[in-house]
Amino acid sequence: MTKLSVNINKFATLRNARGGNMPDILKVAQDCERFGADGITVHPRPDERHIRYQDVIDLKPLVTTEFNIEGYPSKDFIDLVLSVKPHQVTLVPDPPDAITSNTGWDTIANQSFLRDVISTFKAAGIRVSIFLNAEVDKVEAAKTAGADRIELYTGPYAEEYENARTQPQNLQLFNAYKDTARAASAIGLDLNAGHDLNLDNLRFFKLHIPQLKEVSIGHALVCDALYLGLENTIQLYKRQLAEIE
Ligand code: PXP
Repeated sequence: MTKLSVNINKFATLRNARGGNMPDILKVAQDCERFGADGITVHPRPDERHIRYQDVIDLKPLVTTEFNIEGYPSKDFIDLVLSVKPHQVTLVPDPPDAITSNTGWDTIANQSFLRDVISTFKAAGIRVSIFLNAEVDKVEAAKTAGADRIELYTGPYAEEYENARTQPQNLQLFNAYKDTARAASAIGLDLNAGHDLNLDNLRFFKLHIPQLKEVSIGHALVCDALYLGLENTIQLYKRQLAEIE
């Protein structure tokens, strides 16, 4: 089964636009779970423009599914994660001012940094996933750095999938995703994926990447929920991930 972790950052963006507590992030997380989410993902950024550090602390006792915290491992982030102890931490190489994550780690160039950070989280019993481009040559170094999982950065896949509507022969890049997934499972790394996944492109990805353990989805899911409602939307995403007979 592939788990759906709902990234609730966009709800916090909406709340912060007015300065009050609407929508209530804690209730949103609980409702996502009630509507079928298998996990809740948050991505606190240094400027706290969406999820705040305090939200992460407040969410911890309420999340009954899998809690995943994403972010760049700055000192503040590491301290937060160690105090909250989520089920999983997903490390991204974003600079502090990034609008959104747009590339994976160079696991070779950052090997010793990653190894130190990952061992700190693992010593606290937290599963570690690291964000990776679909690049086979970065997989081995993810393993030697100590990661349990990789999260494939699916932004380029989403773009290619969209373009393939007009040029159906062009899904070349997708081979790199399949190869990276295979290389990861061959050395015992589990596989997550995220970024720009949506109701159009999710099923194809799941169909061709059977190793997929978890997807984290935020932006498109929240946009769909505006039209379809949150419960219905979560169910539709789950249906895209249902085992294919
Ligand atoms: N994975 C990572 C590492 C991310 O940074 C994000 C965006 O916060 C996502 C997944 C979810 O991407 P999207 O909002 O496009 O679904």
